[in-house]
Amino acid sequence: MTTRTVGIVGLGRMGLTLAAGFSRAVEPARLFVAGRSASSIERVRAAVPTATVLPPADLADRATLVVLCVRNVDLPDVLAVVRPRLSAEHIVVTINNALPLPRLADSVPCPVAKLIPSVGNEIGAGATLLMPGPGLSADAVAELTELLQGFSRPFVISERQGRAATDLASCGPALLASAAQSMIAAQIERGAPLPPGLAEQLLAQSIDAVSRLLEHGTPLAEIVDRVAVPGGNTAAAVEASRDGLAAAWRAAFWATADNERSKPLPAL
Ligand SMILES: NC(=O)c1ccc[n+]([C@@H]2O[C@H](COP(=O)([O-])OP(=O)(O)OC[C@H]3O[C@@H](n4cnc5c(N)ncnc54)[C@H](OP(=O)(O)O)[C@@H]3O)[C@@H](O)[C@H]2O)c1
Repeated sequence: MTTRTVGIVGLGRMGLTLAAGFSRAVEPARLFVAGRSASSIERVRAAVPTATVLPPADLADRATLVVLCVRNVDLPDVLAVVRPRLSAEHIVVTINNALPLPRLADSVPCPVAKLIPSVGNEIGAGATLLMPGPGLSADAVAELTELLQGFSRPFVISERQGRAATDLASCGPALLASAAQSMIAAQIERGAPLPPGLAEQLLAQSIDAVSRLLEHGTPLAEIVDRVAVPGGNTAAAVEASRDGLAAAWRAAFWATADNERSKPLPAL
C-alpha cells in the first residue's frame, strides 16, 4: 500500500465516488476530504466513514495528493484557499477534462495531472484515466498508477487523447446503460412477455459475457461473428441496427466534444 496522503476537495457525485475508491487504496489515516455544504459532508461521513473531514483550507497541510472535484466555475474559489498551503512536494489533480493542464500548472507551485474516474470506481471496478501534466515525473506517474490500481484499472494517456478516452471509459458506463435501457424499452414496446427486472438481468449477463470474452482476448468482431451466423436471427438484428447505431454514436461523440468546447474556462 502506498504511503501517499490523499485529499479530495468537493464532495459531489465525483468526489464521493473517488473518496470511496481511494478508501480502498490507502489506509484510513491517509485519506482526507473537504466539502462545502453540510449535506455533502453528511453524505461522505455515511459513505466513507473512515475518511477525515477537514476544511478545504487545511487539506494541503495533511494531504500531498490534492484531487480537485469541483466544477470549473468553483475552481478559482477552491484554489484561493488551497493554494497558500501547496508546495513543490504536492501533486494537484483535476478531474475536469475541459481544464487544460498547462493552465492549472501555471496556477500552482507543484506538478499537476488529470484524472478521469468512472462510475464503477467506488466498488473497485472500471477504468481511471491518468494524464500526466507539467512537472509530473515518471516516478510520480508510476506511484499514482499503483495507487489507482487499488480501486480501478488505470490507463496512462496523453491529454490529447483525453476527450475520446473519456467518451469510452467514463461516459461509457452511462452510454452502455442507456443503450441497454433502449433495448429493454424496444422489447416492452413490442409487447414482449418479459418483466423489466428479468430483461435487466438477462442484459447484465450479456454485458458481463462480452466483458469477460474481451478480457480473454476475443476481439469484438469475433464475438459478433460467432453469434451472427449468416441467415440467422442475430445476423438479421445486426444488419437492421448497424446504420442507426453508427449514426447514434457519431452524434453522441460530436455532442460531448461540442459541449466541452462550449464551457468557458475559469480564470485561475
Ligand atoms: N471525470 C469525470 O468522469 C467526470 C464526470 C462527471 C463530472 N466531472 C467533472 O467533475 C467536476 C465535478 O463534477 P460532479 O458531477 O461531482 O459535480 P457536483 O456533483 O456538482 O459536485 C461538485 C461539488 O463541489 C463542491 N464545491 C463547490 N465549491 C466548493 C468549495 N469552495 N469548497 C468545497 N467544495 C466545493 C460542491 O459543494 P456543494 O455541496 O456545496 O454544492 C459539490 O458538492 C465537474 O467539473 C465535472 O465536469 C468529471
